Amino acid sequence: MRVVEVTAYGGPEVLRAVRRPEPDPADVPGRVRVRLRAAGVNQADLKIRSGRYAAALGALAPPFVLGYDFAGTLADPAPGLPEGTRVAGFVPWVEDGTGAGTYAETVLVEPEWLAPVPDEVDFTAAASLPLSAVTAAQALDLMALPEGSTVLVTGASGVVGRFAVQLAARAGHRVVALGHGDDAHELRVLGADAVVPRGTPAEAVAGVLGSAPDGVDGVFDAALVADPLLPAVKDGGVFVSASGERVPVAERGVRVDAVTGRPDAALLKELLGLVGTGGLATRVADVLPLESAAEAHRRAEAGHRPGRIVLMI
Ligand SMILES: NC(=O)c1ccc[n+]([C@@H]2O[C@H](COP(=O)([O-])OP(=O)(O)OC[C@H]3O[C@@H](n4cnc5c(N)ncnc54)[C@H](OP(=O)(O)O)[C@@H]3O)[C@@H](O)[C@H]2O)c1
Repeated sequence: MRVVEVTAYGGPEVLRAVRRPEPDPADVPGRVRVRLRAAGVNQADLKIRSGRYAAALGALAPPFVLGYDFAGTLADPAPGLPEGTRVAGFVPWVEDGTGAGTYAETVLVEPEWLAPVPDEVDFTAAASLPLSAVTAAQALDLMALPEGSTVLVTGASGVVGRFAVQLAARAGHRVVALGHGDDAHELRVLGADAVVPRGTPAEAVAGVLGSAPDGVDGVFDAALVADPLLPAVKDGGVFVSASGERVPVAERGVRVDAVTGRPDAALLKELLGLVGTGGLATRVADVLPLESAAEAHRRAEAGHRPGRIVLMI
């Protein structure tokens, strides 16, 4: 099958299209094959490729196949889902440690990692969502704030941030979005009550306090601003980072934590269902062929592209 490998840690040029043997479901009992149609390019892919997460990968070293998000069709039946069902999900890549990611024609996955894709949702849209939307939902769960709380979402122009804005608004929170000023209208349509344009951390704090003078009850920090944002949080509030490497030092009774997106088939089914009914918007920035993974990484690293870059397989 066609895959894109990381040949050595480095820049996008280390990505190479090669052929590997098809995975055999007999290799890992309980797993099922998915024939991929699309794979999302996540920030974590860029960090793994660069070698930033080398220590977390333990014995796993290049060459390996990157990729968390997938959308495609089941090549084997899974519990409750016949062969041929359109599915999407994400491979918990670091924890799984096989180096068999989703920049590939076929992946072997646990049934708990996937959910059916509604007819209304195409493969590229489905592949843009799993890791990001599940992580955003799990970050909000981790906050455990009562309905009507004021929640700040940073990186609101990004993929995870956009989902967090929408899900926080759906949960009945008052949402302050820290994102690009140009995205203010879109972020309001997605559910933000106030939009603070990104700037220096001091400007961000002043902007947030301008719309929430007592401070916010909770922050989901998808932009990884960390400590400089703490003055925007109420005493006894909660701060959830999108990275365990960027958790601020607790102060004034503020609970600090980090989210790690974990596969949750029921949650993913609900989120994909919302996309199908128009209750959750997902945005695809670009669709490129699998073999153009290096160009996809260059574009993702350049930033300022609203939406997920998706590889078409
Ligand atoms: N813990 C987990 O399981 C998990 C899962 C998924 C993602 N993540 C992490 O979550 C983060 C967001 O992921 P993503 O896919 O949403 O990435 P993304 O689409 O690139 O979004 C990040 C956004 O943050 C913005 N940003 C960067 N610095 C900022 C600042 N100082 N103030 C305000 N905005 C700022 C970026 O703007 P520009 O584009 O202009 O730079 C971009 O809009 C990444 O670090 C990713 O690794 C963690």
